[in-house]
Amino acid sequence: MIPPGDLIQTVNGGTAYATFLTLVLAASTPLFNASSIAANVIGATNDLTRNVAVRSWSHNLAVTVGIGANAWDQLTGLPRPAELRPFEAINGSQYAPATPGDIFYHIRSDRPDLPFEFERQLIDQFNGSVKVQDKVTGFRYFDARALQGFVDGTSNPVGSLIDPATRVNGSIDPNGAGGSYLLTQKYSVNLDKWNQLPTDQQEKVFGRTKPDNIELPDQAPADQKPHKQLTTVIVNGTQHDIVRDNMPFGDPSEDEFGCFFIGYSAAVWVLQQMLDNMFIGVPPGKYDRLLDFTAAETGNYWFVPSLEMLLTIGGN
Ligand code: HEM
Ligand SMILES: *[C@@H]1O[C@H](CO)[C@@H](O)[C@H](O)[C@H]1NC(C)=O
Ligand SMILES: *[C@@H]1O[C@H](CO)[C@@H](O)[C@H](O)[C@H]1NC(C)=O
Ligand SMILES: *[C@@H]1O[C@H](CO)[C@@H](O)[C@H](O)[C@H]1NC(C)=O
Ligand SMILES: *[C@@H]1O[C@H](CO)[C@@H](O)[C@H](O)[C@H]1NC(C)=O
Repeated sequence: MIPPGDLIQTVNGGTAYATFLTLVLAASTPLFNASSIAANVIGATNDLTRNVAVRSWSHNLAVTVGIGANAWDQLTGLPRPAELRPFEAINGSQYAPATPGDIFYHIRSDRPDLPFEFERQLIDQFNGSVKVQDKVTGFRYFDARALQGFVDGTSNPVGSLIDPATRVNGSIDPNGAGGSYLLTQKYSVNLDKWNQLPTDQQEKVFGRTKPDNIELPDQAPADQKPHKQLTTVIVNGTQHDIVRDNMPFGDPSEDEFGCFFIGYSAAVWVLQQMLDNMFIGVPPGKYDRLLDFTAAETGNYWFVPSLEMLLTIGGN
């Protein structure tokens, strides 16, 4: 159970449901200052979360809010975290688009009505100061599997390793102290094409066995490396982990299948290195074969303020 008081910053999820809400600021008028209204709502996120979470603490409503680089100054008035920047499209062996977004809400719970109620009250409070750019509702799929059938999230840091991997070290970057950089990408999955690939080939794509999630040995240097190898970032002998909480989403009747990727990190360069390895390849050209079956449709970087920083945003 998530302890009261740390609702915003709990990033190691594992909940049954999640809503991923990407918002853009509406236009302001002389009588309607959109960014000032939105800033008040953002700064009150912890109160709003409690209002809803208290109705069933045991179902782990947890909310984090991220702010995009282009909206940071007007929404927060705070000095910029060192690595805060917009996501830039990657045009490598595969393509990753950059898409609009000023504010992002990651809303998780073990039952669907709590995220629904949080979103309802949130949108009410924004009172027209934001427009919804994108909204995805994801669900836990069997034993934490992606729609491709593989267990997702195994290598996430746990326990005392979460904070060093996800929170900015204040002595390196005082403006970001205690907060987290966040990458979100909505992917569509071509399940028909993927399911035509024999299981032993699928296992080579991820670098793990499908039924029981056992790690396979790394590929020979000449081969296209598996996903798990391309996303392992080791610099100067130190491995840099991130915390992911991806969720499948979709609508079989509409032939819609997807994966919402979400990764929290203490550093943007770690996220960018993983993306470059996947989309450009190692060496360039030897990209992540997952991307032959899975296409990125959105791309955003966010900064998630620490609870302490969040409480200074808006006119609270
Ligand atoms: C649709 C997109 C994606 C799917 C379905 C997916 C799925 C998976 C799966 C099944 C694993 C192996 C099990 C595990 O350790 O969790 C994995 C590992 C991993 N993925 Fe992804 N992934 C996706 C995109 C990404 C992206 C965009 C990044 C980073 C920018 C990323 C970063 C990682 C990392 C860091 C690991 C762990 C590597 C290790 O240390 O073993 N993934 N992913
Ligand atoms: C990606 O680069 C290729 C080759 O330089 C170019 O033809 C293509 O238009 C680019 N795609 C996008 C979406 O910018
Ligand atoms: C919501 O915005 C409208 C203007 O669009 C304003 O008249 C109204 O007072 C606002 N409501 C709240 C609760 O701020
Ligand atoms: C933060 O960085 C400083 C300077 O590199 C280092 O001495 C300290 O151990 C780091 N703190 C944490 C919690 O990692
Ligand atoms: C790795 O070491 C080099 C040389 O000492 C240094 O310039 C670089 O900043 C280090 N990289 C990281 C991520 O620590």
